[in-house]
Amino acid sequence: MYRSDFPIFSTHPNLVYLDSASSSHKPQIVIDALSHFFASDYANIHRGSYDLSMESSLLYEKSKKAIAKKLYASSDSEIVFTYNATYAFNLIAQSLVKSGLLNRGDTVLLSKVEHHANIVPWQIIAAEYGIIIDWVDLHDDGTLDYDSLAEKLPYAKILSITGASNVTGEILDLNRVKEILDSLEQKPLYILDGSQRFPHMETDVVGYGIDFFVATGHKVMSDTGIGFYYGRKDILQKMDPIFCGGGAINSVTTSGYEPAGLPFRHEPGTPHIAGAVSLLAALEYIDLIWGFATIEKYEKELIEYALKLFATLPSSIRLLGSLSSENRLGVFSFVFDSHHPNDVAEILADDGICVRSGYHCTEPLHTALDVPASLRASLYLYNTKEDIDKLVDKLRSI
Ligand code: ALA
Repeated sequence: MYRSDFPIFSTHPNLVYLDSASSSHKPQIVIDALSHFFASDYANIHRGSYDLSMESSLLYEKSKKAIAKKLYASSDSEIVFTYNATYAFNLIAQSLVKSGLLNRGDTVLLSKVEHHANIVPWQIIAAEYGIIIDWVDLHDDGTLDYDSLAEKLPYAKILSITGASNVTGEILDLNRVKEILDSLEQKPLYILDGSQRFPHMETDVVGYGIDFFVATGHKVMSDTGIGFYYGRKDILQKMDPIFCGGGAINSVTTSGYEPAGLPFRHEPGTPHIAGAVSLLAALEYIDLIWGFATIEKYEKELIEYALKLFATLPSSIRLLGSLSSENRLGVFSFVFDSHHPNDVAEILADDGICVRSGYHCTEPLHTALDVPASLRASLYLYNTKEDIDKLVDKLRSI
């Protein structure tokens, strides 16, 4: 339906791109916005009183406003640009410790479905500062065990959990999490990994009581090297930046410095301005096609179609996660009785079918499910039923 907006499919007419959970392709509007920006509006931001610098700064700020709107955040000063989601998690984890908001003996609760980006940064501070990591269990199919979440949450200082899995495609039930959180006397800080969620749907961070929301741009049709996190204003204000320097200070003397206000104190140095501009263009593209609701509706149709076809595959090919389209993204991971997923991925690649195989940066999940690796096909708005047909035909023939 939206395929013609993406030039990659004209350059490669036979491309069956089923790897959008890894990175998404870019619509013409994003490509044009980047080239227009460099040709007409580029200069460094917040550092010049001339028109070009003003224009560039304006676009950078507009990008934050567009993100804040998609998250129903109270203010765009709660949006901090980073390089990607992994960077955001590292910054948040380190900064929480540095600011005394997370201390020796405190528990960070993760789930076993988490991406390494939401595991390793916590393991770093666990090893260095004596933070404890606990894990929410999964059911046998890899879906989240909400009873385990309810049991462990009262002991957690932080809950850091994915809003949608990059392997099972499970979308976290934010109402259910909120219910559990609301029943607690002492609420933990609630961090949502929105990397897989943000490209597909809006999230009301205030309504769901989310304190931090982390995401990346390249999965939502923008350039790489631009990611962001939302942080609740009162918490961001208490957080000492772990990096500082140009652009992030109010004043510097030979004896010290005073950090700038929000959000600049958390964005030292010249940022990826063009990345922010490309993210703005991607979000404007989503508005142009009538918003995330349109994407969700179209993807739901594809997901239902895919699940029906997958059910016809031989039992030697097993789909991880729920077999229902409820609370599910178009992310499908398979294991095989008689083939290694890497070999299957190579066979598919020979036919121009692009999928990912391996751990997908979720080794603890694969260990919990006792599978050596998996093959993942992931959909986005430019995919078609024909793409799914081609995948299923090839899997059947293998
Ligand atoms: N996080 C990306 C993936 O799941 C790279 O493939």
